[in-house]
Amino acid sequence: MVRCIILFGKLAVLGELRVGRPNAICYKALNFSILLLDEGKPMTVKTLAIAADHGGVELKSAIIDTLKKRGVEVLDLGTDGSASVDYPDFAQAVAKTIIDGKAEAGILVCGSGIGMSMAANRYPQIRAALVHDRLSAELCRQHNNANVLCLGARLLGDATALDCVDAFMSTEFEGGRHEGRVAKMSCSV
Ligand code: RB5
Repeated sequence: MVRCIILFGKLAVLGELRVGRPNAICYKALNFSILLLDEGKPMTVKTLAIAADHGGVELKSAIIDTLKKRGVEVLDLGTDGSASVDYPDFAQAVAKTIIDGKAEAGILVCGSGIGMSMAANRYPQIRAALVHDRLSAELCRQHNNANVLCLGARLLGDATALDCVDAFMSTEFEGGRHEGRVAKMSCSV
């Protein structure tokens, strides 16, 4: 059996060719299905800092693979193994990279996403959003101009997490009535 994929722009034809034993009645069956390749909206974030604690290492790798394929420059700030580490250290690393202007936005992954979001939001220039679905990922960009996405690797499946990443990376801040509200988040008491 031979499998092949033929690409015509956004159309992919997935073909399967079955050839019978040479001395049997020879048969060939061509089974083609047509797939629509959804490339998604273009990424508005071009440079991204990402980090995880030990609870988020695998999801971090999946996110990096996906974003690199879509042309995003990704700064991977660790952690890389299963050894237990402290999430505030990694939230700080991503925050510093954004504050220093080395990345436009960040993604932080831990077991629940909660610790990372709390730690990242200690920095006044950071607006970190813990999201659980595509809509909340879109809204945190449209209304809150979030510059860090936080994900809970132990709470989300990979497909949902990657959908959140896609929405976060490709959705613009709406500005307008949201400008003043976002500005108020940086006011001191
Ligand atoms: C680590 O076990 C876990 O506490 C951490 O990944 C995160 O969920 C904290 O909020």
